[in-house]
Order: sequence, then structure tokens, then C-alpha cells
Amino acid sequence: MKSSILAIAFVGTSTVFAAPTGRSSKTTAEGSNSSFEIQWGPCPEGSPDALECGQLEVPIDWSAPEGEKTTLGMGRVKASGNASDRIGSLMFNPGGPGGIASDFCTYQASGVPVFSEALALHFDIICPDPRGVGSSSLVKCDAQVWNQNTTRFPANEVEFEQMVKVNKERGESCLNETGNLLKHIDTTSAARDIEAIRLALDDGKLNWLGLSYGSQLGGAYAELYPGNIRVMALDGITNHAQSPVDALYTESTTYENVLKRFFNWCATNATACGLQGENISKTFDDLVVAADKSPIPAPGCEATADTAVAGSCQTSVAGADIRLNVQGFLAFKESVSGLLQGWDYLGLALNQTIADNNATLLATALAVDDTSSLYADLAIACLDWLRPDTSNMTKAFAELQEKNTMGSSFNSHVGAASQTWTIQSGCLGWPAEVVNPQHGLDQRALQKAPPILLVNAKHDPETSYTWALGLKEQIPHSALVTRDGNGHTSYLLHGEATALMDTYLVEGMLPADGTVVES
Ligand SMILES: *[C@@H]1O[C@H](CO)[C@@H](O)[C@H](O)[C@H]1NC(C)=O
Ligand SMILES: *[C@@H]1O[C@H](CO)[C@@H](O)[C@H](O)[C@H]1NC(C)=O
Ligand SMILES: *[C@@H]1O[C@H](CO)[C@@H](O)[C@H](O)[C@H]1NC(C)=O
Ligand SMILES: *[C@@H]1O[C@H](CO)[C@@H](O)[C@H](O)[C@H]1NC(C)=O
Ligand SMILES: *[C@@H]1O[C@H](CO)[C@@H](O)[C@H](O)[C@H]1NC(C)=O
Ligand SMILES: *[C@@H]1O[C@H](CO)[C@@H](O)[C@H](O)[C@H]1NC(C)=O
Ligand SMILES: *[C@@H]1O[C@H](CO)[C@@H](O)[C@H](O)[C@H]1NC(C)=O
Ligand SMILES: *[C@@H]1O[C@H](CO)[C@@H](O)[C@H](O)[C@H]1NC(C)=O
Ligand SMILES: *[C@@H]1O[C@H](CO)[C@@H](O)[C@H](O)[C@H]1NC(C)=O
Repeated sequence: MKSSILAIAFVGTSTVFAAPTGRSSKTTAEGSNSSFEIQWGPCPEGSPDALECGQLEVPIDWSAPEGEKTTLGMGRVKASGNASDRIGSLMFNPGGPGGIASDFCTYQASGVPVFSEALALHFDIICPDPRGVGSSSLVKCDAQVWNQNTTRFPANEVEFEQMVKVNKERGESCLNETGNLLKHIDTTSAARDIEAIRLALDDGKLNWLGLSYGSQLGGAYAELYPGNIRVMALDGITNHAQSPVDALYTESTTYENVLKRFFNWCATNATACGLQGENISKTFDDLVVAADKSPIPAPGCEATADTAVAGSCQTSVAGADIRLNVQGFLAFKESVSGLLQGWDYLGLALNQTIADNNATLLATALAVDDTSSLYADLAIACLDWLRPDTSNMTKAFAELQEKNTMGSSFNSHVGAASQTWTIQSGCLGWPAEVVNPQHGLDQRALQKAPPILLVNAKHDPETSYTWALGLKEQIPHSALVTRDGNGHTSYLLHGEATALMDTYLVEGMLPADGTVVES
């Protein structure tokens, strides 16, 4: 799933697209072979010259195409090659569900090499923000309602009821500010949007690169429009066919597994890790217990602090926050210059927490205004994953406790903590219904799809290798490339896995299933 992760891990830029404020009067430069027409207009002030920004109106409810509309926003970086090099448009999703795709076109246009030279040469790169996200019409909520303090691990029925009440209030504030769109931001609707963009571009079949949640979105597209795909590379695989319990088990155990690898790395490489100690795993567990007893201050989050995060995170950090938030820090073992933090940043965060009693880096993010990017992440997931009924609180609490028990029986450090836990606990009581429940991809449809490339690291702290195998079972013509390493997604590492994705996306050549690469 994730890679809200990516959003967390990305540093060094504050470029955030403004919500679309109006339509450009400029008409489309493209000829269009559909009723959909992208308005290419000015980008937000300060955007790099090489970036183009587009908007497309689509129905909020795809089953009522003449009804109320919502606006999709996207970035584009034109192919650098000449007309004979150019293959078409390549659409990209970085993960999330609430990850802001358009930011990645902004990075690319600013000279940060997100995409390889081969992709930049052969394709116009299109970064469409899913409905509700980034430069598309946003999911909006009341920040104060959203930021209410509540536990994600209720210890008793009273705390459980309190959590469900807060979830409901959050969702109701989002419904109030977002309107009907909140009920239609599921991944199937987002996949229909991708088709509308493809038709509006009138540039041939779909070329797709989906990281993390982008693999769920790609899979949803493949189920609906298998014959309209040229190539589809899915990297860091989510499996939308799993039962809630399977999703929770497989995600929390892969997180635990990679956290142990982090401990081992620290033990053998203390200088790089930055966290010293005889027994790092014990240090971590002791910290979690201590922080649950007495939350650790996060002074950098105080509204008055002189930090980049002032006012945008909780001012104290409990053990549950540490267990939930450390997962995102494990996404990339090595830092990627200018873009991503490596494991050493987790070492630093834990060191500061222990040595300086300053847990700022581990603090849970807060919404700073009614357009926070935090909202869409949960709001989309709540429409995509089945959740228990909360009409009988006693029963619903007992079920959540059983999941918690499962987590702690297998994972002595993190328990059930994971993005899936955040979704499964955070969506209880959510006022918009599940409209795209998990299901296996339609096999008859997938027979019509071209060969699809799947990539996953063995030790991925978020999208378990299990998920990659699970999606592979649903896609008859697919090959899985395994990266024998750590971390969530591989494309941005620009190693051997990236080269295989590039060759496939450009030439359509699928690597042999079972290919294993080191980088
Ligand atoms: C328009 O789209 C239809 C169906 O997708 C296709 O058959 C036709 O060739 C397209 N026309 C042009 C001019 O591209
Ligand atoms: C296009 O550029 C490539 C190099 O990228 C070059 O080999 C080719 O001759 C060029 N074709 C035309 C028609 O200019
Ligand atoms: C948040 O709530 C928890 C219990 O749910 C409580 O222990 C903690 O002190 C509260 N924190 C703040 C900042 O109010
Ligand atoms: C709905 O939102 C408006 C502002 O957009 C606010 O004034 C009003 O109190 C909200 N109502 C509820 C029930 O949250
Ligand atoms: C320790 O970490 C540094 C920096 O990440 C790396 O260069 C070195 O190879 C590592 N050593 C071991 C034994 O892993
Ligand atoms: C934190 O880092 C400092 C050096 O930067 C080191 O001396 C200290 O032992 C570390 N503390 C912990 C708890 O790892
Ligand atoms: C680390 O501490 C744990 C108890 O918290 C213990 O089970 C484990 O054996 C210790 N490991 C080492 C290498 O001492
Ligand atoms: C706490 O840590 C944050 C993040 O490293 C830092 O910006 C801030 O200055 C620290 N605050 C104090 C009071 O040490
Ligand atoms: C609620 O669930 C509990 C536990 O499953 C059960 O004992 C109780 O009868 C249920 N209450 C109602 C009102 O159905």
C-alpha cells in the first residue's frame, strides 16, 4: 500500500501544489478523441519551466456520468527525445493512497532525476493526482476535529468507543467539507479517471508505472480495461484480494522482520546507525514501554518552535506512536540524495529521543489546515477495505483486541502496528461506505491484459513479499522480479530493478519470471 511513506520520506522540497483555483481559458493543445478534454494551463507560481499542469473534469460518480463533476489535476514533463524517439505518455503513481503524484513531475522538471533518462527520453511523463489528492479537487476536513487526541490501541471498551466516536466525527467533518466526493474516492473510481485521462491524451494505449499503492490502482485499471494497456510496471506490490486479517498479519510481520534487520545493521555498524548500545532491540522495546508510561516530549513540534515541523506534529510521543511511525523510516536503507532518508535517519531519530529526550522526529503528524494531505490517505482506504460493523461495540472491540493479540503473538517489537492497523482502526465508524471492497482480480478480464511486470524487495517493511506473490496469482501473464534487499519499492533506487523496469516500459520486454537482482 503505502508510501504515504514516500511522502514522509521525501525531504528538501516544500513545493506543494495549490488546490486548483479556476480553469485556464487556454484551450487544449492536443487533438482529443473523446468527450474528455484536458485544460493545460499555468502551473502554481514558482514551478519549474519544464513542468506543465493540466486539469480534467470527470463525474464524481462514474455511474452517473451526467451528474456533478470533480476536477483532476496532473503534472506533465514532455519527452526530451525527438518525434521518432517518442513512444507516448507514461502515467505514474507514487503510492499513498494519498501520495501526491504531481510533486514527482515537479521534482523531475526541477532536475531531480526521479525517472531514468530512458523514460524521460521516450515518454511524456504524466503525474495525475488521484481524485481527492494534491492538485485534484481535495478531500477537505476540519483540522481541529481531525487532530483530536485519541488512542489507536484502545485498552478497554470505553477507549474503543471514544476512538470510534472520534473517527466518526473526523469523517463527518470531511463529508461536510468535501461533499459527495468523499463517497467516491475509491480506487475503482480513480482507475476510471486514469482511463478518462488516457482518452483525453489520445496518445495510444496506457503505459503505467505504479509504486506501492500505485500497484493497486494499476491492478484496478487492468481489471477494467485490460485491452487498453501497452505496458504496466508495478513496484512494491499491494494485494487487494486479502482478507483484513491476512493484510494485517502479513504487513505487521514484514515490518517486524525489517525492523530486526535494522537492529542487526545497527549492531554491526554502530557509527553509520548512530544508535549505540549492547542490545539495540532491547533499547527499542524499553523506549516503547517507557514512552507508553510517560510520553516523550517533541519540543520541535511546538507551534512556537524554530523548526520546519513546528505546529505540524503532536508535542508528545507515546510508545504506540513510535511503533506506528517507525515503519515509514524503514522504507529505504540507503538515502537517495536529495530525496529520501535512509536507515541512518531512524538511528538519529531514536538517538535524539533517548539521549536528548527529544522525540520530535518520531512524532505523529497533525493536520495544519483544512486541506492537509493526511486526509485523503485515510479517506480513500476507508472506501477500499471492508471493516467490521460497530453497531455492537462490545463485539467490535473484542474483534479489534483479537487482531491486536495476533499482532503481539507474532511480533514482539511492533505488535499489530502497521499502516493496515491505522486503516482498520481508523476506519471504524467512518461515515462513508465501503464501495470497493477487496476482491480477487477478474480472471477473464486479466486474460486480455498484456504481460505485466511486478517488482518487490524480499525485505519490504510495508508491502510484504507475500503480497507480490498474491497479486501474481491473479495476473496470468506476469513476471516477478525480486530485489534481494531491503526497503519499500525499487524504482527510485536506480539500480538493476530500475533498469529492468525501464527496458520493459520502453521495449515491452518482460524479464524472465524468477529474476533476482541485487539492487
Ligand atoms: C478514436 O478512438 C477509437 C476507439 O478508441 C479508435 O478506434 C479511433 O481510431 C480513434 N480515432 C482517432 C482519430 O485516433
Ligand atoms: C532522433 O534522435 C536520435 C537520438 O536520440 C537520433 O539517433 C535520431 O537520428 C533522431 N531522429 C531524427 C528523425 O531526428
Ligand atoms: C491523549 O490521550 C491519551 C489517552 O488516550 C492520554 O494518555 C494522553 O495524555 C493524551 N495526550 C494529550 C496530549 O492530551
Ligand atoms: C460544516 O462546515 C462548515 C464550514 O465549512 C462549518 O461552519 C460547520 O460548522 C460544519 N458543520 C458540521 C456539522 O461540522
Ligand atoms: C557501515 O555503514 C557505512 C555507511 O552506510 C558503509 O559504508 C559501511 O560499508 C558499513 N559497514 C558495514 C560493515 O556494514
Ligand atoms: C547518540 O549518539 C552519540 C554520538 O553522536 C553517542 O555518543 C551516544 O551513545 C548515542 N546514544 C544512543 C542512546 O545511542
Ligand atoms: C537482548 O535483550 C533481549 C531482552 O529484551 C534478550 O531476549 C536478548 O537475548 C538480548 N540479545 C542479546 C544479543 O543480548
Ligand atoms: C528536537 O529535535 C528536533 C529535530 O531534530 C530539532 O529540530 C529541535 O531543535 C530539537 N529541540 C530541542 C529543544 O532540542
Ligand atoms: C453484543 O455482542 C456481545 C459479544 O459478542 C454479545 O454477548 C451481546 O449479546 C451483543 N449485544 C447485542 C445487543 O446484540
